[in-house]
Amino acid sequence: MIEMRNIEKTYDTGKVKVDALKDISIEVKKGEFISLMGPSGSGKTTLMNIMGCLDTPTSGDYFLEHEKVSGFTLDKLASVRNQKIGFVFQNFNLLPYATALENVELPMVFAGVSARQRKKRATELLERVGLKERIEHKPTELSGGEMQRVAIARALVNNPSILLADEPTGNLDSKSGDEIVAFFQELWKEGYTILVITHNPEIAKLTQRTIKLKDGTIVNGS
Ligand SMILES: Nc1ncnc2c1ncn2[C@@H]1O[C@H](COP(=O)(O)OP(=O)(O)O)[C@@H](O)[C@H]1O
Ligand SMILES: [Mg+2]
Repeated sequence: MIEMRNIEKTYDTGKVKVDALKDISIEVKKGEFISLMGPSGSGKTTLMNIMGCLDTPTSGDYFLEHEKVSGFTLDKLASVRNQKIGFVFQNFNLLPYATALENVELPMVFAGVSARQRKKRATELLERVGLKERIEHKPTELSGGEMQRVAIARALVNNPSILLADEPTGNLDSKSGDEIVAFFQELWKEGYTILVITHNPEIAKLTQRTIKLKDGTIVNGS
């Protein structure tokens, strides 16, 4: 599913260079549920952004479903991302002026799905995450847990190959966080491949294995 070979990422802001990732090699198999841990600044988000085609490595090879995406242009990457990646963020990243339904429909707009199909699929997914009564609500009218469920519905809408979540429970109370984690487990049992960044060892315990990062390198697992 995912293979990374000797991935390096250096941020060059002009004055200083930051080696955020150093010689990272990782393999993720279809159907795996993996946690990514490590102190703040260790490179977790950078790694996930490269995996999710939101960013490109400075060097190294990245294969996503046997396709070498590390040489792709940003345009091509955006289309791979739209079709193969489901992203869930700590701060939900929903469009504030759009309804839950519109937020979930958006990735399908980019994918060229018809309006009728979009509405059908988005409604089904919002029902699936327990938000049947909240379809026309805007993010400001939803709780944190509800916003994250909208974000998960949106992440699933194009049937992604992998679901990537960057501290998805970081802004939630523990009850809402537990619900989100339970939902990830459900998705994993259905066959989804999931990688989740977390600081919570309880969440990491529920995954099949943990990749630990420190100062841009993997300190255990692979
Ligand atoms: N856009 C950026 N420009 C410059 N440095 C960055 C940028 N993003 C992250 N970094 C640096 O790269 C390192 C890894 O950051 P990050 O991947 O966000 O870590 P984590 O998610 O584990 O907290 C940190 O030193 C951070 O300051
Ligand atoms: Mg981070």
